[in-house]
Amino acid sequence: MAINRAWPADGLRAFSNRPHPVPTRFWIISLAAIFVVALLFIGHQSESLPSIPSLKKEPEQAQPPVPPPPAPNSPPKGPAKGYDPQEFDVDENGLRIWVPPNMDALVHGVHASDGIKRKPTYPLNPFPQTPMVSPVEDNRPRPWLGAVICSAWDIKRRMLIRYTWMKMFKDVPMDQRFVISNPGPDWQAVIQQENATYGDMIVLDHLQEDDFTANTVKTVEFYRWLSEKSPVKYEFVSKMDTDLWVNARGYWDRQVLPRLDVIKSADGNTTTGYKANVNFTTIGQFYYDSYHRSTFPHGAIYTVTWDIVTLLPKLQDKFHVTAGEDVTMAWLLMKGQQKVTLAVLSQEEKFEFDHKDTRPGERTPWARKGTDVTSSWHAMYGSEILAIHQLKKDDDWLMVAACFDEKGIKEMPPYPDKEPEDKGEKPGYPRPFWTQIPNDFWETDVDGTLLCNGIWKLEPGVGRDMKKIEGGN
Ligand SMILES: *[C@@H]1O[C@H](CO)[C@@H](O)[C@H](O)[C@H]1NC(C)=O
Ligand SMILES: *[C@@H]1O[C@H](CO)[C@@H](O)[C@H](O)[C@H]1NC(C)=O
Ligand SMILES: *[C@@H]1O[C@H](CO)[C@@H](O)[C@H](O)[C@H]1NC(C)=O
Repeated sequence: MAINRAWPADGLRAFSNRPHPVPTRFWIISLAAIFVVALLFIGHQSESLPSIPSLKKEPEQAQPPVPPPPAPNSPPKGPAKGYDPQEFDVDENGLRIWVPPNMDALVHGVHASDGIKRKPTYPLNPFPQTPMVSPVEDNRPRPWLGAVICSAWDIKRRMLIRYTWMKMFKDVPMDQRFVISNPGPDWQAVIQQENATYGDMIVLDHLQEDDFTANTVKTVEFYRWLSEKSPVKYEFVSKMDTDLWVNARGYWDRQVLPRLDVIKSADGNTTTGYKANVNFTTIGQFYYDSYHRSTFPHGAIYTVTWDIVTLLPKLQDKFHVTAGEDVTMAWLLMKGQQKVTLAVLSQEEKFEFDHKDTRPGERTPWARKGTDVTSSWHAMYGSEILAIHQLKKDDDWLMVAACFDEKGIKEMPPYPDKEPEDKGEKPGYPRPFWTQIPNDFWETDVDGTLLCNGIWKLEPGVGRDMKKIEGGN
């Protein structure tokens, strides 16, 4: 053995015993070079070997979002043929009884009727519950659940969210969760470890993780999980996308807390609970989808009271709607003839982030002079911001995160004395989609509030321009 091991060194020495001995350093360098070349060769070869199959393709995340073309100033189109509200039945108060349009819904370019035929590509084994290893003791009542609907495989985005707004706004009495479908057998151990560390995962293990699921039934099935399995009954549940920044502090102070009654201990010193002071209420940005001829709160973030959480899965069992996630909610409510109060977020409070609207020459998410915060696409402006959508790029996400702290949004920096020349593309400031809602969709409910599409009741005093009439009740 010893002889065998010694032979290369002997050989080298024999070579170097030539008349002009080559320095040992030469051999070391040469051998190192050969080694490196060999490694490169092996590396190159292995590329052509079958690699570990990539498990699932993430939806492309890196593309900056593009606002729709501006100027939809055309007059609202009426409901299409075969969907004439004049033909609707009316109830005892003379209000139309709305039904969903008779159509095969489109879900990101896929017909719902085709989508539901697909088979799971992996076994949907029950996911073993894996509690957090060292949970933090915190017994404050939390009436609000903030749930990010997330692809199981998008660990990177989850970490970014955990370490930015979730950490920043940890004093807000909100439970923070990620909702994923069944990750499949290959990913199970990883997701178990993730939950053992963070304890913030909800796994809907009867669903396959794919785009079609995420864009259709995932939210209703999440509500089903909440109504059947959640250890806590929340007063408000917010559903959010992964490319949405939420100013949870502002959202709590201005949207959630005013709709809660605070229950105090006998000495009045501690808050022991909260109770919603509204029923069947949704907080969100009003949206009109002209293809599906339906109105609903925009899916990037909306908040519902617990009664809606428990109602929608029951309606789904009865009516089996397959459509885009937000269309599904509207159609189920229509079929169930359930009116819901819609508390609208303004375009200033919730908007789609438009890069082109940022300050020229600066690396900032703040809006340029003369921005239009009545548009659905703009950059950051003012102090009202509650939610910013379309932050698909990590760079944009971090830039926005830097404008907030635990108290909410920081003060907007002043404009530079002299704005640099703007060579880039100009923002188009498209009008919000609710401006397209056909006239026919509006009725006045018996209590005097505006009713849209037969289901959405605006808050008392709020007009079709989504503004509260000053002095109105
Ligand atoms: C994740 O951890 C939390 C906290 O321990 C636990 O309540 C929950 O059941 C776990 N979820 C899963 C899917 O393991
Ligand atoms: C409640 O607060 C009051 C005033 O801050 C204080 O005097 C009292 O001791 C507190 N009671 C308890 C039970 O902590
Ligand atoms: C909501 O509805 C429930 C059940 O009908 C009722 O008991 C409760 O008082 C209502 N709450 C509000 C704030 O209207």
